[in-house]
Amino acid sequence: HHLTTSPAHQLFSTTFAPVKPKQFFIETYGCQMNVRDSETLAGELEALGYVAAEAASDADVIVLNTCSVRERPHHKVFSRLGELALLKRARPNLVLAVAGCMAQIVGDKIAQRAPYVDVILGPRNLGRFGPALAEVLADRGHVLVRDTAECLPEGLPVRRAPGFSAFVNVTYGCNNFCAYCVVPYARGREVSRQPAEIIDEIEQAVADGYHEVTLLGQNVNSYGSDLDSATDFADLLTLVDTILGLWRVRFTTSHPRDCSEKLLQVMASLPTVCEHLHLPLQAGGDDVLRRMGRGYSFADYRRTIARARELMPALAVTTDLMVGFPGESEADFEATLAAVREIRFDQAFMFKYDDRPGTAAADLPDKLSEVEKLRCLALLIELQNTIAREVNTAQLGQTFEVLVEGFDERHGDLLRGRTRQNKMMIFAGDPALVGELVHVRATEAFMWGFLGKQG
Ligand code: SAH
Ligand code: SF4
Ligand code: F3S
Repeated sequence: HHLTTSPAHQLFSTTFAPVKPKQFFIETYGCQMNVRDSETLAGELEALGYVAAEAASDADVIVLNTCSVRERPHHKVFSRLGELALLKRARPNLVLAVAGCMAQIVGDKIAQRAPYVDVILGPRNLGRFGPALAEVLADRGHVLVRDTAECLPEGLPVRRAPGFSAFVNVTYGCNNFCAYCVVPYARGREVSRQPAEIIDEIEQAVADGYHEVTLLGQNVNSYGSDLDSATDFADLLTLVDTILGLWRVRFTTSHPRDCSEKLLQVMASLPTVCEHLHLPLQAGGDDVLRRMGRGYSFADYRRTIARARELMPALAVTTDLMVGFPGESEADFEATLAAVREIRFDQAFMFKYDDRPGTAAADLPDKLSEVEKLRCLALLIELQNTIAREVNTAQLGQTFEVLVEGFDERHGDLLRGRTRQNKMMIFAGDPALVGELVHVRATEAFMWGFLGKQG
């Protein structure tokens, strides 16, 4: 193909410097919902002609997509804002936006402590990011949008992270109001997306080369309770399973109270649905569970796991655990340790309780000291790490289906992927296998997963 250059074009290209597109940079804190929300923010910015910057210092627009669930990310964001203030002083046209759960919960405090922030946008208001940006650019005023009653419009653009695994929301918000948790205040009441919209989004992702999908919601098990159609979460999985070219379906988070027999049976029967259940237990003591408002006892939890393992022998079970809830006694903490020993989780995310302003637990008496909470957390982590290593060691020699995601960071020549149980597998193989399903035998076990051999 021969390219001719017209005199007019020559004149254009020599007279004017090429227009450099404006750049954006997004920093994401918190959970998978925030990762997915950042993909929408990136999509909106690209639709406006922006391109992704390599570093924050190159960007014309910087977005912090924040998390409010614990104390530490709050501090991180405020100190990050301090750094960005210096950048903004050097480049006054830089646009700074704070999105996510902190924007919702402490938006006023951000506006006060960091008055140079241009846009403060709650998680329900992502669809208004473009207009807010336009307003800022037009008169450089500040825009604050926080309305948890608003619904996210369908069809917002998305720029997904590269790879083979896509996040797709099925519900927004949460109705549970667990005593410790800020999420219902940050993300509003639970709203289910229409099944057809979810299917459309997954089909588009598959067309774009994604072969695995993770369905997202704070409590996916209650999906559909607000819809006119009778589609519940198990029905939704059945619909999703039929999508051509979709190899794997995951979902998070399930709630022990709502994890039904029907759901477990459907999980077990559908070929795409991975043998992995993330079911946050939070605590092993019934008294603590009751005061958390979780709606199940440890006996209920044990029964659900036993049934799930009966239906899916290869199932991996992961969980969230919290130590130091107000009033938690040594016996309560022992109950959590005992639960961990009994269930033998494949993996656990473990936290020490933090007071979150506005939540019910913040007003409870008998708070534990930081030292005490940290002592419990360290003991819990040590126990769970040992168990995770033992669970994986017991699976040595087994062959797992692995979706190859790319190359391992530490051993650059080795491939890295995940088993259906969501465990990391690192092995030597042809680079052409990236993006493919392969079978790999586990040859060395670690807390985090396996080293393996193909075939
Ligand atoms: N919707 C999910 C996840 C919510 S946030 C669920 O219901 O499990 C993720 C985890 O953060 C929670 O499971 C909980 O273990 C932890 N978490 C929530 N609030 C917390 C707080 N105030 N202090 C410490 N950990 C908290
Ligand atoms: Fe928070 Fe409970 Fe809702 Fe999970 S289910 S987001 S822990 S209120
Ligand atoms: Fe954090 Fe909001 Fe997710 S508080 S954990 S980003 S829902």
